[in-house]
Amino acid sequence: MHILVTGGAGFIGSHLVRHLLTVHPSYTVTNLDKLTYAGNLANLRDVEAMPNYRFVKGDITDAAFLEGLFTENRFDGVIHLAAESHVDRSISSPVEFVMSNVLGTVNLLNAARVAWDGAFDGKRFYHVSTDEVYGTLGREGMFTERTPYDPHSPYSASKASSDHFVRAFHDTYGLPVVISNCSNNYGPCQFPEKLIPLFINNIRHNKPLPVYGKGENVRDWLWVVDHARAIDLIYHQGLDGETYNIGGHNEWTNIDLIRLLCGIMDRKLGRDPGTSESLVTYVTDRAGHDLRYAIDASKLQRELGWVPSLTFEEGLEETVEWYLSNQEWLDEVTSGAYQHYYEEMYAGR
Ligand code: NAD
Ligand code: DAU
Repeated sequence: MHILVTGGAGFIGSHLVRHLLTVHPSYTVTNLDKLTYAGNLANLRDVEAMPNYRFVKGDITDAAFLEGLFTENRFDGVIHLAAESHVDRSISSPVEFVMSNVLGTVNLLNAARVAWDGAFDGKRFYHVSTDEVYGTLGREGMFTERTPYDPHSPYSASKASSDHFVRAFHDTYGLPVVISNCSNNYGPCQFPEKLIPLFINNIRHNKPLPVYGKGENVRDWLWVVDHARAIDLIYHQGLDGETYNIGGHNEWTNIDLIRLLCGIMDRKLGRDPGTSESLVTYVTDRAGHDLRYAIDASKLQRELGWVPSLTFEEGLEETVEWYLSNQEWLDEVTSGAYQHYYEEMYAGR
């Protein structure tokens, strides 16, 4: 089995690559990544020497490059994570999100369709999407797989568009596809622009913690390794053309989460209780800020038996521990030094 993972140098992709190489040692995994600011080969240092792992630097917006890659390799499946992923960046640079998330996905679908040429038996195209395509919830209810799409940010609109193209390739060409829509992930190796690693880093440096609006928005947090486990399960056992929601059943208002995080940070850093929370600064709200996300993951549990493995308290403790034990990782990605890693690592290869 030879699987192409796109975006494998990013946060979720690196956990997925490690999971696949560990749980399926007979598989070959090719990781295709452009290495944008969010892609970091250091996330995979512990597995990069494995004989069944391969890294290819490339851009999914380049259709000719993809065609060559699919001609040189006989991929059995694609697990597609490569994307621009940060909502705030999509507000300042929406076109980049259309390029990578929409055009990139269509290019990849087309490359797989042409390479597999109708011989779809045993093949699968897995598209990793987000709960943000469903829009926002009020105080009640949850997103199910049948919730109508209602994206509000350029990021979620680009992901919604890519989901539609995946379904269109299934319905038009018979491409064997599966889609999952997941809630907010957290854990090691997340770029410190996202809430949890940003706040850990700011607390470390005694910098303000910028809470958008009143901190009342609700997110449903999932341990990233549990997302990787769910993708593996759905890739192998999910039904053709189906969608599966993935979520932690773990809703927190931002301010409650921040208080929990601040308490853990005070304890770990030996600071007086309340020290980290005093850094909280309320700032102007994010434009188009969705109030609440909550995933109903009962289909995944009922049909494939998936349940999260960690409580949020355990996972957050482990996450803080990882960032504090890997401060050089944080320093590198915030300084940009890691971007030289690729040149050093692959010079002359
Ligand atoms: P990330 O930003 O950490 O990583 C994205 C990776 O994609 C990076 O390694 C980057 O270099 C690569 N990439 C970007 N554009 C590319 C291009 N044009 N060609 C090749 N590679 C490119 O993102 P993440 O948080 O790991 O998210 C991965 C996927 O999961 C995304 O599709 C995202 O929409 C989805 N998702 C994320 C979350 C979350 O909470 N982070 C939740 C649900 C779904
Ligand atoms: O729901 C899944 C989505 O979760 C993924 O599809 C996205 O790729 C991922 O980035 C994430 O999106 P969010 O916008 O929910 O995550 P973020 O970490 O940016 O923000 C979480 C919440 O915290 C959100 O309500 C905005 C708020 N926030 C965020 C930042 C960065 C702040 O209050 N202050 C901040 O500085």
